[in-house]
Amino acid sequence: MYTRYLNFIRGVATNWWGRLGVIVTTSSFVCMVAIELARLLGLVTSSYAGLISYMLFPALFVIGLFMIPVGWRQLKKSSRKSTAELLETQFGKDDSRGDFSGARLFRMISILTIVNIVFLAIVGSRMLAFMDTAEFCGTACHSVMNPEWVTYRQSPHSRVACVECHVGEGAGSLIDSKLNGMWQMVSVTFDLLERPIPTPVHQLRPARETCEKCHWPEKFYGNRIKRIVRYDTDEASTPKYTTLSLKVDIGDQANQHGIHWHVAEENEVRYSSLDDERESMVWVELKQSDGSIKRYTNRELIDSGSEREEIRQLDCVDCHNRATHIYEIALHAIDKRIQLGQMERSLPFLKREAVGAITANYPSKEAAMDGIANHMHGFYRRNFPDIANNKMALINSTVAVLQQIHSRNIHPEMNITWDTYPNHIGHANNKGCFRCHNSNLVDQEGKSITYDCSYCHSILAYDSDEPFRFLQTADTTSLDYQMHRYLQEEFLNSSKTGH
Ligand code: HEC
Ligand code: HEC
Ligand code: HEC
Ligand code: HEC
Ligand code: HEC
Repeated sequence: MYTRYLNFIRGVATNWWGRLGVIVTTSSFVCMVAIELARLLGLVTSSYAGLISYMLFPALFVIGLFMIPVGWRQLKKSSRKSTAELLETQFGKDDSRGDFSGARLFRMISILTIVNIVFLAIVGSRMLAFMDTAEFCGTACHSVMNPEWVTYRQSPHSRVACVECHVGEGAGSLIDSKLNGMWQMVSVTFDLLERPIPTPVHQLRPARETCEKCHWPEKFYGNRIKRIVRYDTDEASTPKYTTLSLKVDIGDQANQHGIHWHVAEENEVRYSSLDDERESMVWVELKQSDGSIKRYTNRELIDSGSEREEIRQLDCVDCHNRATHIYEIALHAIDKRIQLGQMERSLPFLKREAVGAITANYPSKEAAMDGIANHMHGFYRRNFPDIANNKMALINSTVAVLQQIHSRNIHPEMNITWDTYPNHIGHANNKGCFRCHNSNLVDQEGKSITYDCSYCHSILAYDSDEPFRFLQTADTTSLDYQMHRYLQEEFLNSSKTGH
């Protein structure tokens, strides 16, 4: 069998084309099998290996296969012999004799063809599966996707594959996504990509097909207490508490309404935004349960009727646009690390200096790493020499944490710096909810969408020394006595009625 195979190969590889074809096909086959074995054994884990073994080698394999018939045609042209004569000279009488379908040669070709098809089918399905892994999406185009990969791995969705959110259900979206992926490969190769990658991402699948596979609106009920600690810029970096009771409820037909009311089955909120950027709303519309439509128009913006106007139905990602690729706000990043105990307030002016160190303008990643270390060491050496000497280890570990914060959030190769990507949840580094909940969007009667401070959350503490200050008995002599009473009652009442 082996010698017959060799004979066959020799017969096929008659000229330059045929020989090259055989070499390319055979060697890419061997390489693929070798890499696949190494991957199965865990010897190779890099996604580049997957890229090569599932994309480059199969392509070479197919190209090689095609070269063989090309070589055969060339031979036929140059020798001017009939196919039967050629077969005989190339493979000998034994193999090619007999009526064609009975010839051994034909059997050989059939078997090899079947083997090739089965092999390519296996490779193809492995390739599709591989392209769906987060490792592939996040690291194959390394520098380009690095920011998304880094933020993803530290997000609540670090176990959710990229395709769960970026590719919807069904064959259509599968093909779309593969075409899109190929286009991305081309644009990465030729450096056509915009840096940073522009948002909003317009070709994201509707949230119904993605987010709602795992989260469904009926699940939202009640309030969610959010306790926020912010540290002052004083010497002790004194903690201040803001505590909100977020009304995440979806509500029901009766009267309880909360934040997820927008995505309840029976409600529909649509809007048009300037240049389709989802930042400045031209108008916002709400379809009410009786089918009537209520429209709020922007007093300050005239609908330009521009061609790029696109009407969008509000869904999860209009608020949760940073569900996974969450970039921190510099001030808040420091607060969080102090709260987690990774940095110590025993270092004087920790908050102030840490923020200064990470937000300074650095030309490159390396410069940033050095700059952060110099900033912190320099500050303590100049102003607190005792501390610089005695707490060297603490300053060093603080520097390491700050460098980590910087690497996580700042990506010079993609032009991503602080606040490049706005976060629409809340209203901290961007208008967020206030894109619609503001005084400019008004209905016919001139009434605006509410922006009352306790509409979306009860406020239980606001930059206070106590995390639940407004739940404590109000001090009649205090300056904010009236506000204290008001917020306390609002919370107690809304807890009773649901809103
Ligand atoms: C939980 C859902 C979810 C997962 C999982 C997810 N993404 Fe995203 N991603 C989003 C959403 C939502 C946006 C849209 C942001 C916008 O339009 O402003 C986005 C935006 C992006 C963007 C555009 C740039 C940016 O940062 O906004 C890229 C690139 C991207 N994702 C890549 C990835 C990769 C690679 C993975 C896997 C490693 C991944 N995503 C996993 C939800 C997800
Ligand atoms: C494949 C399942 C899956 C998909 C798809 C998915 N999520 Fe999640 N999501 C989860 C899981 C699981 C958690 C809980 C993680 C935890 O508790 O640590 C979560 C948590 C969250 C949270 C809460 C985070 C927090 O801080 O508590 C939000 C908000 C969220 N998802 C929004 C979204 C949005 C928006 C989308 C669509 C763009 C989406 N998810 C798609 C599985 C999913
Ligand atoms: C109008 C804005 C808005 C829309 C639309 C929206 N959310 Fe939310 N969602 C919020 C806010 C605000 C929170 C509370 C944020 C926090 O906890 O920091 C929240 C919280 C959540 C949580 C955590 C809830 C909990 O009880 O801990 C999940 C999960 C979530 N949203 C998923 C979704 C999904 C899925 C959709 C689409 C079906 C969606 N959201 C639509 C604003 C929105
Ligand atoms: C695209 C515009 C838009 C955005 C963005 C938006 N909202 Fe709304 N929201 C509306 C409209 C329209 C209504 C209904 C107003 C009315 O009753 O006429 C509404 C109603 C609400 C309600 C009350 C529901 C009820 O009927 O009692 C809450 C609570 C709310 N929004 C919270 C939020 C929060 C929190 C955010 C940001 C995370 C947000 N909204 C972002 C348009 C928006
Ligand atoms: C349309 C809904 C809405 C309205 C109106 C609103 N907020 Fe908020 N606010 C939010 C949401 C949602 C968050 C939580 C964001 C998050 O989870 O990070 C928030 C967060 C906050 C925070 C915490 C910010 C931080 O440090 O992280 C403060 C303080 C705050 N709101 C104060 C106010 C005040 C004061 C008003 C009145 C002028 C107001 N809010 C009106 C939705 C609203």
